[in-house]
Amino acid sequence: MPPNDTHARKKNRKSAMAIVQELGSESNAHGLAKIAMSRKTKRKVMWSLLVIIGFTAAAIHLSFLVIKYLQYNVVEVSEMKDGMPVEFPSVTICNTQALSLTKLKDRMNETPDINNWFQFISNANFGEHFSRVESVQGFYENLFQEAKNVGHEIKDTLLHCRFNQRPCHPHNFTRYFNGKNYYNCYTFNSKQGDHDMQYMHTTGPQHGLSIVMALDNDDPPLGAYGLYNQESNIEHTAGLRVQVHAPQTMPSPMDHGFDIPPGYSSSVGLKAVMNSRKPYPYGNCTYDRLKRYPKYRNTIFSCFQLCKQEIVIRECQCRTSGLPSTPEQKNLSYCGTFHHWQNLFQQLSKSGSFNRTHLYNQKLDCEVKVLHRLSNDRSYEVGCGCFQPCQETSYQKSISLSYWPLEFNQYNALQTFYGILEDSNRINNSFMSEAYYNLHEIIKKYEPLAQNMTGENAEQLLHADIPMDERRKQARATQLIHQNLLRLNVYLEDLSVIEFKQMADYDIADLLSDIGGTLGLWMGISILTIMELVELAIRLVAILFKSENRYPDHMDDHSSANGILEHSTERAIYPQDTYDPYTQPEFQSFEKNDYGRTTNDLPPDSPI
Ligand SMILES: *[C@@H]1O[C@H](CO)[C@@H](O)[C@H](O)[C@H]1NC(C)=O
Ligand SMILES: *[C@@H]1O[C@H](CO)[C@@H](O)[C@H](O)[C@H]1NC(C)=O
Ligand SMILES: *[C@@H]1O[C@H](CO)[C@@H](O)[C@H](O)[C@H]1NC(C)=O
Ligand SMILES: *[C@@H]1O[C@H](CO)[C@@H](O)[C@H](O)[C@H]1NC(C)=O
Ligand SMILES: *[C@@H]1O[C@H](CO)[C@@H](O)[C@H](O)[C@H]1NC(C)=O
Ligand SMILES: *[C@@H]1O[C@H](CO)[C@@H](O)[C@H](O)[C@H]1NC(C)=O
Repeated sequence: MPPNDTHARKKNRKSAMAIVQELGSESNAHGLAKIAMSRKTKRKVMWSLLVIIGFTAAAIHLSFLVIKYLQYNVVEVSEMKDGMPVEFPSVTICNTQALSLTKLKDRMNETPDINNWFQFISNANFGEHFSRVESVQGFYENLFQEAKNVGHEIKDTLLHCRFNQRPCHPHNFTRYFNGKNYYNCYTFNSKQGDHDMQYMHTTGPQHGLSIVMALDNDDPPLGAYGLYNQESNIEHTAGLRVQVHAPQTMPSPMDHGFDIPPGYSSSVGLKAVMNSRKPYPYGNCTYDRLKRYPKYRNTIFSCFQLCKQEIVIRECQCRTSGLPSTPEQKNLSYCGTFHHWQNLFQQLSKSGSFNRTHLYNQKLDCEVKVLHRLSNDRSYEVGCGCFQPCQETSYQKSISLSYWPLEFNQYNALQTFYGILEDSNRINNSFMSEAYYNLHEIIKKYEPLAQNMTGENAEQLLHADIPMDERRKQARATQLIHQNLLRLNVYLEDLSVIEFKQMADYDIADLLSDIGGTLGLWMGISILTIMELVELAIRLVAILFKSENRYPDHMDDHSSANGILEHSTERAIYPQDTYDPYTQPEFQSFEKNDYGRTTNDLPPDSPI
């Protein structure tokens, strides 16, 4: 080995020591500086100890911070958002009376099935499932086609519709069939079709949805009576079930709706509320549509409903009409169906053994048991894969009622809503004709007096001996109107949206600043200190390379593995004490010229 090679290595080694030394004395990590600068061993030991303690404390503290970060906690903040248009919600309306009595009467004359069914259920013995079988749900499960025929149709019941000062029509409503309670429900602004978004820029009842409906609650024929189902808490009422929900979500009028009575004008003022949740890893929310039924936007409620339906299908091999089902499940039969009940009915009525036969439907039994279990034990939810939507709009409602229509306006109201002046067919085909012609008769009689309201006529009208019959006719008209007509106004009260937003309680920026604080607190280290260490590493590596590449000629003779070996052996040759940092003057230069040599001409170890 040539002498100037050993010389260079010695020089490099000294450079390395100097670099380390420099870091120690100038570092921002003050503990290290103290160790490096201390001349007394005691002090060195003490500072080393303190540095170790500081290091340990910092490590513990850092682990706490990282654990805190990995918990991904969120806080919820609420914010008023102004100045943006607000999406008008979907409004789903259902008649609380699933069956239209008028239609039922018509259908009964055309087909014996309906009559047979009513006889069947009133004679047969269904045991504990009696009230289920005799309910509208049982009717639907056994007479699907008839149930659809006798349900209310929007084109018959919608008398008037205005939305944001423009007329709307029955075809602006989308049908949603609810087999359990309401049959035909209709959704305004469902956006399932090609209607575009309804954004609202104004508040108040004049700019919302206003509909006038006739409920079609005809008086039953004398002597006819319906069975009262004591187990149902919602049946046997007149009115509308209304649900206001975010567009494109699945309606659930039974669970999330409210009732509107006939004879009143009901105002539903809305205020939009938005819920924004943070996705993984903070929570489990999802931006997807409803997994099992992508026609609808995801809500956790409808997801669980569809999941329950799946469980019923899995366990009973039939579906329940009490829960929504997806198009793929439409082929399955309902659990409550008595297959061939018509034949059974014929047999039993011939043999006259009705009240001795207990009719048992195993699938219905299974369905009732499964649904009962699911409603008392929520553990099935884990397997459903249902998650909250990350963005969800709901609406706060305030509902108020006022008496409507006032007697003074009833005659003209009927004229307008039924379009009587153009065509009296619609009212003639409706049982409301009784109300109209009653009023018509009275009004035509007294109109001349009322029109010419001189003092004398007023006196005469006041004390007129109006026959009891006419008074009864007027009362009857008012009764019919109040039993059947209602007005519903749904509008936005406020254009500012309340947004409940989840925010990361402790995000990456917080973590970094806390790490900075911790390292500073325990060790006096900052990013720049770490950069110093990086620089040190780079410089040490550079020196290492320099020593190996100094004599490229020799590189041909020695393999690189050999070079490393040489390097490590030579280390032992140099005594450790040839270099004393404290007698060494400040390190002069370690810049390199283009050839990798140091620019300093003096041999670095020559005494100065
Ligand atoms: C109702 O439907 C008609 C035609 O399909 C459409 O032009 C109109 O904008 C709709 N109205 C509303 C309020 O959606
Ligand atoms: C997310 O769901 C998984 C299982 O699906 C559950 O283990 C985890 O606790 C849920 N996380 C949150 C924040 O709810
Ligand atoms: C459902 O029934 C239709 C015919 O009624 C049939 O073509 C289809 O394959 C059935 N689907 C399933 C999933 O059974
Ligand atoms: C069964 O009904 C018949 C009439 O339909 C009646 O005469 C008979 O007493 C009833 N039997 C029982 C056990 O109720
Ligand atoms: C409706 O009934 C009224 C009275 O009963 C009658 O005067 C009118 O002509 C009828 N209208 C139609 C279109 O049948
Ligand atoms: C109004 O009533 C008075 C008293 O009954 C009568 O004299 C007068 O002619 C009436 N006027 C009209 C326009 O019918």
